[in-house]
Amino acid sequence: AGDAEIAPVGFFQKYPALVTGFFFFMWYFLNVIFNILNKKIYNYFPYPYFVSVIHLFVGVVYCLISWAVGLPKRAPIDSNLLKLLIPVAVCHALGHVTSNVSFAAVAVSFTHTIKALEPFFNAAASQFILGQSIPLTLWLSLAPVVIGVSMASLTELSFNWTGFISAMISNISFTYRSIYSKKAMTDMDSTNVYAYISIIALFVCIPPAIIFEGPQLMKHGFTDAIAKVGMTKFISDLFWVGMFYHLYNQLATNTLERVAPLTHAVGNVLKRVFVIGFSILAFGNKISTQTGIGTAIAIAGVAMYSFIKARMEEEKRQMKAA
Ligand code: 3PG
Repeated sequence: AGDAEIAPVGFFQKYPALVTGFFFFMWYFLNVIFNILNKKIYNYFPYPYFVSVIHLFVGVVYCLISWAVGLPKRAPIDSNLLKLLIPVAVCHALGHVTSNVSFAAVAVSFTHTIKALEPFFNAAASQFILGQSIPLTLWLSLAPVVIGVSMASLTELSFNWTGFISAMISNISFTYRSIYSKKAMTDMDSTNVYAYISIIALFVCIPPAIIFEGPQLMKHGFTDAIAKVGMTKFISDLFWVGMFYHLYNQLATNTLERVAPLTHAVGNVLKRVFVIGFSILAFGNKISTQTGIGTAIAIAGVAMYSFIKARMEEEKRQMKAA
């Protein structure tokens, strides 16, 4: 009981909205830094499969140390829980690697524009996989998103098919991740769940990295990177990108625990607006007028879709309550 009486805890319990706001802020902040540093690494070390392994590896080491010192205390896991978490982690790994293949191949802003389609994939999955019927108005509200992304893609200066297709696969993977996450709802706290997911995802990511990039890395990948930036910077970049990756994902998971899934999904799109803006500033990327307009239409479309969906859910809730 002593702990609960310490002033800051009381303060945070009294103002939960402030804490949630802080979670959102940290999630965005860490994500923007992650995206910029990550792309800087790809500019001198273009090995997204290997870098994806490093992201998860640094996160797993961080989790193991956190558990060792009891912050947080490790939650026990059994085979039933493991069976529920494996599909979530496999989708997490697949979405992670494909996002990174795209980040390495095209401008960060473009990958995130395509990833803004994620709510569209979620709606399609609800209708065609889960069999929940999506009203026509909701589908129509997604039209600007698709049109905007198409417009942006057609004139994107960094466009290539690898970047486009892999970002699309990441949308599918993350949609499946959210479907499986719903089935894997447990009593375990989000920090522990994310730690277990990271460990499983790490094992999933290692074989493709060895198969697709192992030989090139051994031949000249590492030596080229070290010749370009030096050993110390190379290692510290990999360490920090892994820390930022882990912490933004942990914060995203912790935020999901505090808000409704829809708020989280909207928050995730808003996050992309920040990343797109800051990455264009950081890299001085030129974007064509059509790509700029297309991106803006897509994002406005997501906002509209979320608004309509939130209203429908509210109506459903009121009908149930009546
Ligand atoms: C990753 O590396 O997994 C990507 O950064 C995922 O992007 P998202 O969390 O913005 O969807």
